[in-house]
This record gives sequence, structure tokens and C-alpha cells, in this order.
Amino acid sequence: MTQSLITVAYIAASALFILSLGGLSQQETARRGNMYGIAGMVIALVATAAAMNLGGLPVLFAALVPGLIIGAFVASRVQMTSMPELVAMLHSFVGLAAVLVGFATYLGPHGNMTAAEMNLHTAEIFIGVCIGSVTFTGSVIAFLKLRGTIGGKPFMIPGRHIINLIMLIGTVALGVMFFVSPGHEQGQWILLAATILTGILGVHFIMAIGGADMPVVVSMLNSYSGWAASAAGFMLSNDLLIITGALVGSSGAILSYIMCRGMNRSFVSVMLGGFGTEGGTVAAPGSAPAGEVRSVDAETAASMLQQAKKVIIVPGYGLAVAQAQHSLAEVVKILKENNVEVKFAIHPVAGRLPGHMNVLLAEANIPYDIVFEMDEINDEFPATDVSWVIGANDIVNPSAMDDPASPIAGMPVLHVWEARDTIVMKRSMASGYAGVDNPLFYKDNTLMLFGDAKKVVDEILTSMRG
Ligand code: TAP
Repeated sequence: MTQSLITVAYIAASALFILSLGGLSQQETARRGNMYGIAGMVIALVATAAAMNLGGLPVLFAALVPGLIIGAFVASRVQMTSMPELVAMLHSFVGLAAVLVGFATYLGPHGNMTAAEMNLHTAEIFIGVCIGSVTFTGSVIAFLKLRGTIGGKPFMIPGRHIINLIMLIGTVALGVMFFVSPGHEQGQWILLAATILTGILGVHFIMAIGGADMPVVVSMLNSYSGWAASAAGFMLSNDLLIITGALVGSSGAILSYIMCRGMNRSFVSVMLGGFGTEGGTVAAPGSAPAGEVRSVDAETAASMLQQAKKVIIVPGYGLAVAQAQHSLAEVVKILKENNVEVKFAIHPVAGRLPGHMNVLLAEANIPYDIVFEMDEINDEFPATDVSWVIGANDIVNPSAMDDPASPIAGMPVLHVWEARDTIVMKRSMASGYAGVDNPLFYKDNTLMLFGDAKKVVDEILTSMRG
């Protein structure tokens, strides 16, 4: 393929990636957005393969085919609830790839470069390797935290900001040494030292971030992985990789900003790492909420819902685990037939990945026009007869507002307790992802409905049909 054809193919792929991002920003167009992304990636792969000389193709296919098979196998088996772990693992691969590309580019032939080009190239390599290394180790830690292999609690070393600063200054110093190093012999060791130092920085950043703040970490690492890919694009002089990386990097940064707003955290503190604990301590054992817990059965809950004029449903992680969305859609249909006004309230970090609840509800064909974001609906709870919480916990925890010592203090939550009655459906009194007790369960107007969400929604459905 001629160079101009490849350039045209790359421009087409870039345009498709931009259309894909546009499509993915709306539920109605998300499917189309995915198709644009797939088409863009196919064009990118074909054009890249066509641009290679014949000798390189066996190596490309030897890497590509097992990668495709493993990717398809893992993606087809992954549970929706394990998606963040998979995403974190994939981010780590991008980081590792940027590190390897950096070393290969540095140690490989450089062709005929002018002194100015060589300087630029050296800077690209150093920056690419450092971003890649932070992304790699940070993503591995995020993967282990999300998987529960290592605890979700923030790991705080005294003076951690100073340690981070020293590591950053050390990295800059190594960068200067790398830049002025006389040859590869010395330069490779400096690059290796920078890789290790920034790798430790990545571990330290993510270890210091606590449970409920992990959504921001996932989107932030998404952004880092984009910049790492873009840096690899500069090293390989591949325009498409530069553009794609920049798209991922900037959209990840925007998503991080949206997540920060959802969690009421500052973006700067996220970038510095170790946020999510300021002003909050782990609740002392004595401060656990106390009071009477009242429970109801599915039949009573069904009649409360049917007699209500207005119901707001708050879905959470438990709905996804139980896969109760299809039965829930049936219940919603019956309620609407009975002239009950039904709305869904979606918290920005409900579930385990951005947009998790929207995907679940879309899967069950719940109409988009009854699904509302937290800011749009939070004022409606006082005028609501029944707020129905299904498998949610942290996102409806009033201690985020009332208890400054709570680890989730300051996080905006859905004000479900302001409704006349609240029905909370979950299996036990256990805490949610952040490990924080929830005083909602003890409020006078709260009724607990214990059981697996799918089983209980089915019981409610049977009762309503009866
Ligand atoms: P959680 O606070 O984790 O609460 C979910 C609740 O669902 C649990 O308390 C659990 O109680 C219940 N549950 C689990 N399985 C169930 C089942 N089969 N049937 C019924 N209930 C079940 O979830 P949330 O309210 O959606 O809040 C999300 C949390 O995850 C936040 O802390 C957020 O920061 C964090 N997080 C979010 C993301 C993103 S991007 N959304 C990523 C990582 C972390 P029982 O065990 O008693 O049933």
C-alpha cells in the first residue's frame, strides 16, 4: 500500500474513532458508536499490516492472532460486575507496551536524524517510558484492589506527599542525565532507573486511594493509558497512535473530571494521588448506627408500590449481581399500567463502572425518558411516595452528608430517605463497597426487604400479577 493510501486510511480510522466517542456519549447512540469504533480499529489494523514489509508480517500475526483469541475469550466470559478489573488490566498492558516500545526505540537504530530531531526523540522516549511505567504499575494495583486481592483501604505512609515529590524530582533529574548521557551504554541504565522509580510512584499513587474513590482511579488510569499510547505513537512516528492515544487520554480526563464532580473530590488531589481520605477517618466501632430495623415481605412491598402515586427506583451494584433488571422491567410495566409514576435515579458511581446502571436498564429495554441523573432527580424525593432501593448502599448513605468523620463524607448521595417511605432491598445488613455502615437502614420510614434482588423482584412480580 502506498504511503498516501495509508495516510488516508489513518485519517478515516481517526474520524471513525471520533464518531465512536460521540456515539458512546448517549445511550440511544451507544450501539452505533461501538460499531464506528470497531470499523475504525479494523481499518487501522489492516492499514498498519499493509504498511509493513513482508518480513515483518509473520511476527505481526504471531502476536495478533493469540491476542485476538485471548481477548475474545476473556471478553466473552467476563461478568459485567468484573468489567472494571478487566479494564484496569487492559490499561496495564498499554502502559507496559509504552515502556517496551521506549526501550526498543532507544536501543534500536535511529536512522539519519539531525541533532534537533535526536533531542526531540530522546525526550519522547523518556516521557513515554515514564508515563508507561506509572500506568503499568498503577493499573496492576488498581486491578488487585478491584479484585479484592489486596484490601481497598488506603495505604498511607507518613509524609507521602513529600515522598511523591522527591520521586518526581528524582525522575526529572534522571531525565536530565538521560538527555546529556553520552551513549546507549550509560543511557539504558538511566532509563531503567527512571522506569523503576516511576513504577514505584505508580504503586504509591494508587495504594493511597481508598475504596469508594476507585471509580475516579479507573477513569484516571484510562486517561494515563491514552497518554502512554500517544507517547508510543510519537516514538514510532505513527500518527494514528498519537491521535487515538490523545482521544483516549482526553476523554479519560473528562470522565475523571465528571467522576470527581460526582464524588465531590478535587481533580488536583486526584492527580497528586492519595486523595479520598482527607477529612475522613474510618468510623470508630462505637459510631455504628443504632436503632430499630423494620423489615417487610415481598407481598407488602408489592402493595405499597401499587398504591403509590409516585415511585423512584434507585438501582445499585446488587441489581447487576442478581441480574434482576428484566424482572424489574416487568414490574415497572405493571406499575405504569396502574398509573403509578415511575422514575429511575442514577448515581454517577452506582455499580462498578461508569454508566453501569444505564447499561443494565437499557438491556432490559427500560425507556430512557424515565431514567434520570442524580442532579436532575434529587429534589423530587420529598414529593415521592416510595423510594425503592435495589442492591444499592453507598450511594444512598446519609452519613456522607451528616457525618464529617465518615470515609465517604462529602460524597453527594441520593436523598431516598426524604420520600414518604423507603424500601431497601438487599440480602443482609452488610456494608457496601466503601465498607461504611449505613444509617438509612435504621430510619423510621425505612423498610428492609431482605433477599437476593432477582428472587425478591420475581416475588413482587408474582404478587402484582396475582
Ligand atoms: P455498594 O455500595 O457496593 O452496595 C451494593 C449492595 O448490594 C451491597 O451492600 C449488597 O448488600 C447488595 N447486594 C449484593 N448482591 C446482591 C444481590 N444478589 N441481591 C441484592 N442485593 C445485593 O453499591 P452502590 O450503592 O451501587 O455503590 C457503588 C460503590 O462502588 C461506591 O462505593 C463506588 O464508589 C464504588 N465503585 C464504583 C465504581 C463505578 S465507576 N461505578 C467503580 C469501583 C467502585 P448485601 O450483601 O447485604 O446483599
